[in-house]
Formats: sequence, structure tokens, C-alpha cells
Amino acid sequence: MNLLLETKSYQRSLERFHQIFGTNPEIVAFAPGRVNLIGEHTDYNEGFVLPIAVDLFLCVAARPRNDRTVRVIAADLDDWDEFDLDEIVRDDNTNWRNYHRGVAWAIQQNGIGLKGIDAVVASDIPIGAGLSSSAAIEVGFAMTFLYFVSADVPQPTLAQWCQLAEHKFAGVQCGIMDQMIALMGKADHALLLDCRDLSHRHVPLPKGIAFVVADTGVPRTLAASEYNIRLQQCKEAVQWLSKLLERPIKSLRDVALEELGQVFNEMPEPIRRRARHVITENNRVWAFQQAMREGALKRAGSLLLASHASLRDDYEVSSRELDAMVKALMSIDGVLGARLTGAGFGGACLAMVRKDALEKVLKEVASRYKIALGNGSPEPKLIATNSSNGAIVQKL
Ligand code: GLA
Repeated sequence: MNLLLETKSYQRSLERFHQIFGTNPEIVAFAPGRVNLIGEHTDYNEGFVLPIAVDLFLCVAARPRNDRTVRVIAADLDDWDEFDLDEIVRDDNTNWRNYHRGVAWAIQQNGIGLKGIDAVVASDIPIGAGLSSSAAIEVGFAMTFLYFVSADVPQPTLAQWCQLAEHKFAGVQCGIMDQMIALMGKADHALLLDCRDLSHRHVPLPKGIAFVVADTGVPRTLAASEYNIRLQQCKEAVQWLSKLLERPIKSLRDVALEELGQVFNEMPEPIRRRARHVITENNRVWAFQQAMREGALKRAGSLLLASHASLRDDYEVSSRELDAMVKALMSIDGVLGARLTGAGFGGACLAMVRKDALEKVLKEVASRYKIALGNGSPEPKLIATNSSNGAIVQKL
């Protein structure tokens, strides 16, 4: 049985397609959400990340047209979009439109002429939870557009085009992690990715553990502006370090923790702490994947907690709710480690959980979180995820 065909977003996209166009789509593209296990805010510093693709999907049901018009219906938003492939512009008022528009623009910018399509998009990836629904929409549409012109683009290149779309159309200067994992995920594996040259390796996930996504119920706020500020601060850190260490440094990836220690006191706040987060986080990615290979789950769990502390104290992208969620998760026996995942500023935490504790976590964490936050606490959501493969196009 093809499990993808059981997904809710698939059913919704198909149903809506029928309603609107009175026929079956020719294809459905499935693009997964992702959870980053460790390696946060390292990708745009040419560092290392270790995400998994998860079994929450965005679906694009589509058929080709004979002209240059793109029509997109957003089944979940009750909204639609229409544009001409020869005149693609940003929509300053309605952000969801910028993802598929941006992707069409980026592909054509790279010399591939596209055909118009009729499409319906539906998604089971919660928006603003830090599971990268945005990379899923980019990748889902990129694969749809390319399918209808029979273009074969290597996955890392396509990931870069999707990233370009996000930079130019959605206004977030994101790294490459989300697009790479949405395309290259592999069930039962994490993707160890070097964001400098995009070399990668699939790391098997240990048996007997599950990854839980604990959404704080507070969508990411300030994400775009604060994110771009962090990026800028890392660039400043590189300039400081080149000067103080008296050698050319391309990115924070090139600096060892001992070197930072030598000049830490000469660097300004908060730049030096931003640098410390990135450098220690890169080290944690390596230590974590090693711990997973050795089945040293306790050690892996401590690295997740150390990552959270660094994101909270040095990188300052956590929030009261994210901190409370980590605490609530860690209060349950069998939770090996937890941390905020994704950009931060709201969104979700990830917890690494022994399978025999999974039920208890799903049952009890929400109330512990709400008690900790007191009156007016946002409504959290606990999701047990399974790792999945990357995006595919299914012909109907
Ligand atoms: C967002 C970006 C990614 C990455 C993470 C933080 O998800 O899209 O490129 O920078 O934040 O690790």
C-alpha cells in the first residue's frame, strides 16, 4: 500500500481539484516537513546541520496548461492566485503567494522556460511551527513546474533555486538546510549536511527512540527581521575575527573554539556570543551524530539540551514558551533531550524520547506546559513524527 496516498493533504488536494476543475490532476507532488535534530543557525555560516524529513506532507495536485498562466488554489486558506509566467512579481500583501511565484521566477531565471499549470495546494505541515512549511511549498511547486517541462535538475541545484526564491520573494535570507532536506530526506535516517559545499551523508537513526515535535502554540513572530539581524551579526563576527586573528576568515565555520577564546574579550557584545553559539553548535552536530552511531543516547540527549541553552543564552532566539516546553518535556522519564528546533522566536521544540515513554509524553506534556505558564497559556500541540523520504512526484 502506498502510505502517501493515505495522507490527509493528498485527499484534500484531490477533492478540491475535482470540485474546481471537474477532473483528476495529472500529478501530485508530495513535499515533507522537516525537523532539525541539531545544528541550528549554522547553515548560513557554512556549517553543519542534521535534519530529518518527517511524515507531514504538503501536496500540490496539478495539470499542465497550454498557455503561460499559473492558477493556484490554496485548499486550506480558501484563497487563490493567478499570474503570468512572463510577469512574475512579489505580492506584498499576501505572503503565501510569494513561494510558488518565487520558485517559478527562480527556475526561469536559471534558463528553464516553464509551462502554465492549474494547481491545488494543501498541507498537513503546521505553519509557523518551525517545521519548514515554506521549504515544502517551494520544493513541491519546483518539482511540479519541472515535471511538466521534463527538466531534470540535480537536487542540490534545485535546493539552491528554492532558497533563491525565499530570499527574493519571501524576504528571508535563509540558509540551505530546509530545501535540501525536503528534497533529500531518507526514511530512518538523518541528513548530515555540510552547508559549505553541500556534501552530505545519511546517518541511520538509532532504534528504540522517537522524535516528538512539541509546538508551543505560539507561531514564530519577528522571524524574518530577527533572523536577518542574526545573519548580519554573524557577518560582523567574521570581520572581527579576521582582524583579531590576523588571517582571512570566510565564515564562522573556519574558527575553532580555542581561537575564539583567545580573542573573546576583545570582541563586542552580542557579536561574540553569536559567534560562540555557531562555533559550539557545529561541534555539537559532530558529537551528536557520533553519539547516535554509537547508540550513546544519553550523551546525544545532553547535546540537545546544550544546544537549547546556547540558542537561549548566546544566540537569543528562544522564548518563555520554548523554555517552558523544554522543561515540561524533560520532566518526564524517558525523554532523553529536548531543544527548540528551527529558527526560534516561537514555534516548536523537538524531543528525543525512548519509545516506551512516548505515550506518556503525548499524554502529559501539554498540561505540565500549561501549568508552568499559568493563566492564558497558549494551547500546545504534541506530534509524534516518523522520519520520511524526500519530495516525490506521483503520476495519477
Ligand atoms: C530557518 C531557515 C534555515 C535555518 C534555520 C535555523 O528554518 O530557513 O535555513 O537557518 O532557520 O537553523
